[in-house]
Amino acid sequence: MPVDLSASYYDQYQHAMRQAEKALANGYGARAASAYRRAADYLEKYAGYVTNTSALKMRATQLRQLADRVAEGVPPSAPAQPVTEEGAGDADGLRQQVVALIQRAEVTWDDIAGLEATKREIKTAYALTMARKPAGVRIDAPRTLLLYGPPGTGKTLLAAATSNGLDATFFSVRVSDVLSKYFGESSRLVGALYAEARERTPAVVFLDEFDAISRARGESGESGAERRLLATLLSELDGLNTKSDPAFVLTVAATNRPWDLDSAVRSRFAREVHVPLPDDAARRRILEIQLPQKGHQVDVSLDDLVERSAGYSGREIAQICEQAVAHMIQRLNQDLEALVDQGRDAVSAYELAVAPLLEEDFTVGLAAVGAPETTAADLARFARWCEEGG
Ligand SMILES: Nc1ncnc2c1ncn2[C@@H]1O[C@H](COP(=O)(O)OP(=O)(O)OP(=O)(O)O)[C@@H](O)[C@H]1O
Ligand SMILES: [Mg+2]
Repeated sequence: MPVDLSASYYDQYQHAMRQAEKALANGYGARAASAYRRAADYLEKYAGYVTNTSALKMRATQLRQLADRVAEGVPPSAPAQPVTEEGAGDADGLRQQVVALIQRAEVTWDDIAGLEATKREIKTAYALTMARKPAGVRIDAPRTLLLYGPPGTGKTLLAAATSNGLDATFFSVRVSDVLSKYFGESSRLVGALYAEARERTPAVVFLDEFDAISRARGESGESGAERRLLATLLSELDGLNTKSDPAFVLTVAATNRPWDLDSAVRSRFAREVHVPLPDDAARRRILEIQLPQKGHQVDVSLDDLVERSAGYSGREIAQICEQAVAHMIQRLNQDLEALVDQGRDAVSAYELAVAPLLEEDFTVGLAAVGAPETTAADLARFARWCEEGG
């Protein structure tokens, strides 16, 4: 799914940048150079998933030049800046950064198992905003939504499907990235982001890892920049909630740690929605999405898999299926590596052998993923938090 892929390419890019900087700091020039090249590669892959590709490609080229210089032993004059910081100073640059946050989402409502009430709520908000109201009647639609729940339960999917389903422009922002990369510019970036969103309505602004905003606030070293970011964000959210203009800008924030959010932040959200671990029916649907819908047959009872996947998140179930499929492929195509050594033509002439998935494939898949990431203690914490009304 494009959304996932782009996020992971971006992660890989950031990871490679960190490795490069670390290697550089320790005086390992060759290692730094190859990490910069890896970063450039990932950035180019990432560029395939966002609308503003030219800035990213330019940056990738710069990174390769930097890698060459580092490899030759010339230390860079200044530490390599993360891509999004570039040109943040001027309005045009800022706008470019914002446009680079727009993602293409290809996730549909049908790709999401369960969470029916949440889907209905989002659709209703949209309908309330867009439908004509009788003269003199004012109906406010919720424009701010906080999704909270364990990791891998479909929060990002929901935001992506929302923007796709509404044919909206999808701005995807990780709050921790904004804080770490834009420094003093972060509040201006958020202002520019909402200005751009209003021009491209309907729009969905997705604020991922939203708890980072409160973490920043609580840390002793809280800087003016962070306080300004928070203030800007809160006032944008206030604006969304009170404005009766017909522009549809929906803010969806997501967090795994709702208890980290203070009341000033939480009060800005018109709705808080719990996105729980998948129940039996949702797990069945996720298994269907991951297996039969991808053309895989299963020789194990689905009921059995539904039962054995209890406690796992949607992401983990997807991983279990992926691992099971990989194991089946390995069983039936033992000479794949040798084939690769024979060259590209040999590989592309070869058709993979496939067969229905067996018990042993799922045993391997389950073992590879291990115990569920969300523990009983985590679940109890969510339950307590929900019970106490947050
Ligand atoms: N309800 C669901 N229906 C179908 N697939 C799901 C569901 N939940 C998770 N998945 C699968 O897990 C992957 C990760 O889901 P997603 O990115 O939405 O999780 P998340 O709640 O945003 O997690 P995090 O809190 O870690 O950001 C999806 O790409 C999908 O394959
Ligand atoms: Mg997510």
